[in-house]
Amino acid sequence: MTQLETVKKISSFINKKTKNFKPEIAIITGSGLANSVPDLQNKIVLPYKDIPGFLQSTVAGHSGNLIFGKYKNKNIMVMQGRFHYYEGHNIKDIALAPRVMARLGVKTLLVSAAVGSINANLTPGALCVISDHINFMCTNPLIGNYDAAFGPMFFDMSEAYDKELVKIILAEAKKLKIKCGPGVYIAVTGPNFETPAEIRAFKTLGADIVGMSVIHEVLTARQCGIKVCGAAWVTNLASGISKTPLSHAETLAETKKIEGKFKNLLENILVKF
Ligand code: HPA
Repeated sequence: MTQLETVKKISSFINKKTKNFKPEIAIITGSGLANSVPDLQNKIVLPYKDIPGFLQSTVAGHSGNLIFGKYKNKNIMVMQGRFHYYEGHNIKDIALAPRVMARLGVKTLLVSAAVGSINANLTPGALCVISDHINFMCTNPLIGNYDAAFGPMFFDMSEAYDKELVKIILAEAKKLKIKCGPGVYIAVTGPNFETPAEIRAFKTLGADIVGMSVIHEVLTARQCGIKVCGAAWVTNLASGISKTPLSHAETLAETKKIEGKFKNLLENILVKF
């Protein structure tokens, strides 16, 4: 089966289950951020395991559900738990979910993630609104995975993260007194955290934050013409800057502290998107 056929099959399965609910905004929740989703009306939860052809997440802190519902006047879709390259998924399969989103009618995607910070101004607990990215994973889910139905083969990435949405998120975060700033996300494959030498190199390259996800979803969504923005929560100072060893337990403990703030932020920004 081609990916287009799989996307069509999954989308019609979802349409049946949701009675053709048309999501306009999609949110992907990162590590430990699954509980930050605002309370949706007429909520429909579809566990990934019940969706034929969908991937399964394998990482602690990533539940696996697609959630559909209304928040105020907006139709929302949530991907609660994402897929990472380091889990061993075929890189092309990571394009599946954003392509399904596009087919369901999503026009705006907000990706969220836990990240390490390379920028001294972005300390743990701060929000980095992604302004641009560097693909240091050196792979791409769109290679050998093309169909004209998904969009142009060669697409523009000069404003991958929508400037208006970045402004809205920063303004609303400030109103909520959340420490925040824009920043460049550099993506690594993981699963290991970085070495101090890598972090020094990334700083030289112009990165502010580092993480193991996000960009593959962003690339796929941009090809489909979806507007994108990103909320990256700093859970730790990056390797060599942090005084203590890094761990996934620390990431999850820090995101637990952020959960409530992120929920408030989402409630305030979704109505403005
Ligand atoms: N590096 C990569 N990914 C991360 C980090 C980090 O320091 N913290 C949370 N996710």
